[in-house]
Formats: sequence, structure tokens, C-alpha cells
Amino acid sequence: MLERFRKDFPVLENNPGLTYLDSAASTQKPAVVLEKMDHFYRFDYANIHRGLYNLSERATASYEAARTRIAEFIGTAVPESLVFTRNATESLNLIAATIGEQIVHKGDEIIVSVMEHHANFVPWQQLAARKDAKLKVVGIDRKTLELDMAALESAITGKTRFVCCTMASNVLGTTPNVAKISKLAKKHGALTVFDAAQFVPHHKLDISTFDPDFLVLSGHKMLAVDGFGVLYGKPEHLAAMPPYMTGGDMIENVTIEKTTYSEPPQKFEAGTPFMGGAISLHAAIDYLENIGLDRIQEHESALAKLADEKLRAIGKVKLYRKPEHIHNGILPFNIEGIHPHDVATILGDMDICVRAGHHCAQPLIHFMGEMAMVRASFYLYNTEKDVDRLIAGIQKTLEVFHK
Ligand SMILES: Cc1ncc(COP(=O)(O)O)c(C=O)c1O
Repeated sequence: MLERFRKDFPVLENNPGLTYLDSAASTQKPAVVLEKMDHFYRFDYANIHRGLYNLSERATASYEAARTRIAEFIGTAVPESLVFTRNATESLNLIAATIGEQIVHKGDEIIVSVMEHHANFVPWQQLAARKDAKLKVVGIDRKTLELDMAALESAITGKTRFVCCTMASNVLGTTPNVAKISKLAKKHGALTVFDAAQFVPHHKLDISTFDPDFLVLSGHKMLAVDGFGVLYGKPEHLAAMPPYMTGGDMIENVTIEKTTYSEPPQKFEAGTPFMGGAISLHAAIDYLENIGLDRIQEHESALAKLADEKLRAIGKVKLYRKPEHIHNGILPFNIEGIHPHDVATILGDMDICVRAGHHCAQPLIHFMGEMAMVRASFYLYNTEKDVDRLIAGIQKTLEVFHK
């Protein structure tokens, strides 16, 4: 058990009675991440890329070192294939608004899965509407809750321009086979967009094994601070794409008549970026890899499965995943006859933090015949005590509602 890691997280240390089971929404930050950011602002901060003085050169070096470290973490030797953004949502919108606008035309198709977070659903739905293209939504198997690969195979055609799929569902934890999806998309000449926001906090990612065209992640889901995201794009795509935003720091030359742009990734990083965010993700990756993602996964799965077992024993809890299919520390459930918001409110009053609602995945929740769900999400800093407190909270909820 990784119990000793809880003490690395100031929020948890400063709130001793807190049971934080909402890491799929956002993770807590270890002290080392906060310290690295603090050090950067105390010792090395200046605006990057333009300063001709030592301090700015140090700031630029730290920012670019983060790019190299993140590139290594996801398995690419080309740091320039990483664009820094504000979050996964901005990364996805960037793709849809640039290359999406370029290559999707009337009558074309875009494929998404029904389990996408709205961030990987709405930009494609809106692009399809703007272009008079067709949005095809691939379902999941109702028994296993895995992506319906047969449906994907029959949906994809020569007109498909993008296949957009999560690498780990934020509601179910489902982890689709991206190598298969990538192979299928390539066969039909479609580009792939993988949403790794919920995958990278739990797994070692090696993009060389499935060769995506685009992939996105969000720092705050993996122990870095909020407001910092990453977009990976194949260098040939980034080179051909128009900028998303224009302004300072992304130009090569500006005259009154026209502007030429820098090479990627600068072409997509207009304005002063969030340097502290980059530093924090660098530190977070070091921290995660020091512990080992396999160990983290083993720990959170063991806790989620223990919670699942104890909730099943209570009897009135509807659990959506079979124990053997619990992934990424995510446990979605409902209690018969009690609204998920009521469950989360009672747990919240006991300082047990879970999420309730549609989890920014309304198409999935509706596909499953629900309006809302409760989600407990476990991560490396949770302990068996958190499981016990969750169970006590559910028992209390049942008492309050006389169930
Ligand atoms: C699977 C998935 N994709 C994308 C996002 C969006 O991330 P952000 O809010 O950091 O843009 C989330 C956030 O919950 C998510 O769970």
C-alpha cells in the first residue's frame, strides 16, 4: 500500500479529516510540485523566448526543459511536436478549429465514441454542423461497457476524416484499444485524435506503439497545476496547420501588409504562456515516475475494488462496472431511489468528496439510461481509511432516506 504518499500532499495534510475521492475531476498537488513552481518564480522568472539577459534565458531553458520531459514521458523524441495550451479542452478545440476547418468538407464524416467527455464531443459536433458533415457516434457494448469495435469498423468509411476517442473514460474508466483504432483509421485514411486526459495519470504512455495523429492531456489531472494542457500533433500536421490564435511570440515577421509565422510549436503558442504550469507538469511527471505508474495503478485499483466489494455487500447500490472491469481508480454508482446529488451532498457534509451529475458526458449517461451518477475516483494518495469512510457515508445516506 502507498499510504505514506498521502503526506506528500499539503491539502490532505491540512485537512486531516478529508476523504478526497474526486481525482478524476482534478488531482491534489504534491509539495514537490508546488516547491518547484515556487522556486521558479523566486529565482528564475522572466518572460521567455525574447529576453537577451541571463534570467530570461534561464526561464526559457526551464520552460523548454519541461517540453523535452513531457515528450519523453509520452514516448516521442520530438519535443517540438508538443504545443502547450491551457487544458485538454483548448487542445481539442485547437485541432477542430485549425486542421478540422482545413480538411472537413460537406458530406465528410467525423467519428466519436459515445463515451467522450464533452471536450472531445462538442468541438467535433460543432465542426460537423459548420461544414455540413456527418457526426457518427459509436456506442459501447452494454454488457462489458467497452467500446463497440464492430460498430466502429462498420462506421468508418473513405469519407471519415477524424476518429476521435478517449483513452480512458472519465465516467466508466473504460480504456479502448487505441492501437486497433489507430490501425483501422489509417486503413481508411482518417486522422486519429486521442484524449489521454484520464489515461496518463495512471499509465505509462508510449505513442510510438500506436502512432496517433493527435493526442491531448491536461496537467491538473496528473498532479500538476490547473490551467496547463498539452497537445501532441504529428510534426507534418502541425507544420501544415494554420495558427489558432495570432499575436506576439508566434510570428516570424510582421509588416503592415502581412505576417509570417514561426515554426511549430511557437506558431500555436501566441502570447505569454503559463510557464509555472509547464514547470509544474515537469515536476509532477518526475514525481509520478519516481513512484512508478504501475504501482500507482495497482494501489488505486485495489482500493476501488475494495470499495466495490463493500458497496455490493450493502445491497442497494447499483454498480455499473464488474469488479474485473474497474480501471483507472474510477467507480461509478447510484443508490436506488436516491438522487446522486443527494448522495454527494450527504457525503460532502461528512467531508467525503465525490462527484455527482452527468460528468460532462451527457451522451454516455443517456446511453446508459440514466440522468446522473455518483463517481468516486481513487488515486495514489487514497487509503483504506478513505474506503471505510465512503462506506460509512453511504450507510448514513441510506439511513437518512430510510432505505
Ligand atoms: C476524459 C476527459 N477529457 C477532457 C477533459 C477536459 O479537461 P480540462 O477541463 O482540463 O480541459 C476531462 C476533464 O474532466 C476529461 O475527464
